[in-house]
Amino acid sequence: MGTIAIREPLPGPRARQVLAEQADFLPAALASSLPTVVAEGHGAVVTDVDGNRLIDLSGGFGCLAVGHSHPHVVKAIQQQAERFLHTDFSVLPYASYIELADRLAKLAPGSSPKKVALFNSGAEAIENAIKIARQQTGRPALLTFEGAFHGRTMGALTLTSQPSPYKVGFGPFLPEVYRVPFPNPYRNQPPQQLTAQTLETLERMLHTAVDPRTVAAVVVEPIQGEGGFVVPPSDFLPALRTFCDAHGFLLIVDEIQTGYGRTGTFFACEQYGVEPDLLTIGKSIAAGLPLSAVVGRSTIMDGIVAGSIGGTYVGNPVACAAALAVLDVFESEKLVERAQLLGQRLWERLSTWQQKYPLIGDIRGVGAMRACELVLDRETRQPAPQQTAAILQDAARRGVILAKAGIYGNVIRFLMPLVTPLEVLDEALDVVEFAFAEAESNRGSR
Ligand SMILES: Cc1ncc(COP(=O)(O)O)c(C=O)c1O
Repeated sequence: MGTIAIREPLPGPRARQVLAEQADFLPAALASSLPTVVAEGHGAVVTDVDGNRLIDLSGGFGCLAVGHSHPHVVKAIQQQAERFLHTDFSVLPYASYIELADRLAKLAPGSSPKKVALFNSGAEAIENAIKIARQQTGRPALLTFEGAFHGRTMGALTLTSQPSPYKVGFGPFLPEVYRVPFPNPYRNQPPQQLTAQTLETLERMLHTAVDPRTVAAVVVEPIQGEGGFVVPPSDFLPALRTFCDAHGFLLIVDEIQTGYGRTGTFFACEQYGVEPDLLTIGKSIAAGLPLSAVVGRSTIMDGIVAGSIGGTYVGNPVACAAALAVLDVFESEKLVERAQLLGQRLWERLSTWQQKYPLIGDIRGVGAMRACELVLDRETRQPAPQQTAAILQDAARRGVILAKAGIYGNVIRFLMPLVTPLEVLDEALDVVEFAFAEAESNRGSR
């Protein structure tokens, strides 16, 4: 007996009813395209309103490293909710905020003493990293990358690269943001010289576009998430660290998607031996509750002007309780090691699919952060966004929830909970493979 159970073809009658009401009450821009509506979720499994059981390989876009409704996290939330829901830490402090800051500072890569500020969302962590970098350097400019995704609030959105759909009609954006190509080994040739080329472009920009004396920081994802799980060459992040040190720029590393074990180490930076000046964390930090953090060198964080950062809900006590429970689960269930195991299993399957299905132009990733890029032609590498969307729909109807990514919308990324049992992952991947075979045969029969 497998985990998946499709009792009613998706969307079932109850889901159809709910989805139909979307049109009456939600702007079309917010409507979900998945043919189902969730009733509950546990681990990697969700049950929809019609009693269908599906496997969730999207993990709420990477927020659910500990899975849906982990009992330890739920208990911590319940206990905290019974004690108090909110005070505003700056009015009336609570111990869980400080305990979480202590644990995050110790987990952050590098040996320098660190301090932590908590916020609500990933974008808000980025906004505050920008503010701290500008305030502490007294400089306005930021350097960032093509394909980057750092969130949807105005500062974060300025750093975000993709114009459509994220930036459509929302400008003007922050001034003094300069962007260079991200080293993408699949789309830039030859891959061997990518780091050198990128660093050369950055250096040249300091002569052609921006005065280095005005640059506060470089902002980078160690592996691009929304941009399509693009893994730069392994010497890229260390080279960026050297570049920042040489010019006196801060290095802001955005681990909102790569953090919390996703890449097989707690933070991706650990694999590159790089210590950021400011590190942003979000997503899996509180198992889906809104919470994020900026972890920075104490020398920087201690200089922040009192009262200049904060917010009503930042570091909410229920979210802090959840975040502490998440860290406990990481230790007790060895989730970093599990990420390696899941990633290995996934990689084996992706490798066999690449041989069977010409649609798959590239497979890539680190740890459990793996993806495949779909193309119409392996020679030209022309993106295949329609086939990608069709595979997502087909997989959902067969009982597996997937997420897509990539500046061309042609990457399938795997963000399953790290608690997913191997046999459940195998079952889900069998379904995804059916969807691939279907997409290939539809191509053939056109
Ligand atoms: C790398 C990265 N940074 C920032 C964000 C923004 O986080 P949020 O959606 O919580 O604002 C995301 C979200 O996908 C992300 O992947």
